[in-house]
Amino acid sequence: MKTDRRNFMRSATLLSAAAAVPLVTVQAGCELGDSGLVAQPAGDPRERAWREMAAELKTAGVYTPDNPGIWAGKEGSHTPQISLVGQGVEALTSHAQGPEDKPGHYILCHFVERSDGTVFDFRLYTRQALANVTSLLAVPETYSGPVTVYSYCTEHDLWASELVA
Ligand SMILES: [Fe+2]
Repeated sequence: MKTDRRNFMRSATLLSAAAAVPLVTVQAGCELGDSGLVAQPAGDPRERAWREMAAELKTAGVYTPDNPGIWAGKEGSHTPQISLVGQGVEALTSHAQGPEDKPGHYILCHFVERSDGTVFDFRLYTRQALANVTSLLAVPETYSGPVTVYSYCTEHDLWASELVA
């Protein structure tokens, strides 16, 4: 199926780009909490890798509840619910991640960026037996302004929510 091939290629590219990031970063991205919550400055090698992954994920389109496109009806389980928590943004996507779900269908990551495309934080997931995916994303202390938080589903593409940090 064309969509499956496209998703495979995207996931392969994403994981390939992730391989260029120190492993500790990917592992830290699987944790929830304040430890290691440090936003990467624009141009930092990690930030560049995150920006590359973000650009790849956006190629299939970015969806919102007001613009669900071909995925109308999927808003509730794919749009990240976001809130400010300390010096970060908590993102929750209410989407099945467990082994009872369709194989290959899960939330792969959350990330947060500002309007110029700088990716402050990017959290990758492995498929786990969880009903939802929550992550705490770092935003620099020195930054105040709008941010966009994204959630990527391997089957239903990239969904966005915005708030002012
Ligand atoms: Fe999905």
